[in-house]
Amino acid sequence: MNTTAEQLRVLDALLPEWLEDSRKEAAFGEVASYIPELSKAPHSALGIHILDKNGSSASAGDCSLSFTLQSISKVFTLILALMDNGEEEVFRRVGMEPTGDNFNSMLKLELVRPGIPFNPLINAGAITVTSLIRGDSPAEKSKRILQFFRSLAGGVELQVNEDVYRSELETGNLNRSIAYLLVENGVLGGSVEDVLSVYFRHCSIECTCRDLARMALVLASDGIDPFSGGRLIPRRYVQVAKTFMITCGMYNASGEFAIKAGLPAKSGVSGGILTLVPGSLGIGVIGPALNAKGNSSAGVHLLERLSRKMDWSLF
Ligand code: DON
Repeated sequence: MNTTAEQLRVLDALLPEWLEDSRKEAAFGEVASYIPELSKAPHSALGIHILDKNGSSASAGDCSLSFTLQSISKVFTLILALMDNGEEEVFRRVGMEPTGDNFNSMLKLELVRPGIPFNPLINAGAITVTSLIRGDSPAEKSKRILQFFRSLAGGVELQVNEDVYRSELETGNLNRSIAYLLVENGVLGGSVEDVLSVYFRHCSIECTCRDLARMALVLASDGIDPFSGGRLIPRRYVQVAKTFMITCGMYNASGEFAIKAGLPAKSGVSGGILTLVPGSLGIGVIGPALNAKGNSSAGVHLLERLSRKMDWSLF
């Protein structure tokens, strides 16, 4: 199979059956409830959208379902922080290594010196990165983030889901603990509540799997919007982001996903997964029921099968 358009035509025919098969995996997962508002998501939903640089697409399942980006936002706030500050400044405060711990763990912040977060995709790292986004106030930082995300989504008017934001603000005490430890370690400056409000707001930006596919396509195109031809992200920062997605993007299942699917990916606790085939395709998936590692159980099943069948692995 040569062109992506041919691949997408084949997929349009095959996806519905593969998707229904993967949907069964939702039975083994649970919808996240530690952010109470997230628990309202439909347990067995599963949707996928795949988009190429010419605008051809294939999709199946519950593609109109809206969900919040959650940790998927961390990839793009990292990129914005890199664009605002450069690599040297960002990586003075956050490391480049997987942790082997839960995404919301603060264990290594105490155990390993210097007490900087291991990487930008765990909560400690993402909170630190969020603090580096330019802006005179939390509102201005949040506005810049939203504008950046909208440009990556092709101008779609993405919005913050205020119910999810409030739900996380009210219950996010573990993130508060992490942030105070970061202040103690000299990593974070300023007001903890200000940083967390910006962090919770970007995690609460609402999207569909089509929006995810569109944002992923910019990464697949090395930072260029394939439809306008404009550069949205320097190529080097896309390289950095894709590498983190391979090594840390699927929490403690990143190694397994790299072996089975072989694609850069980032998941979120809402059940979203953003992934891409470098050079050609952006892919967005939603499946709210999460497996034991915190990734969409049906979504991972579908993506691993797709990548194997289509021979998409980079390795
Ligand atoms: O901070 C949290 O717990 C959520 N806003 C995001 C968590 C998530 O998606 C998993 N992160 N790696």
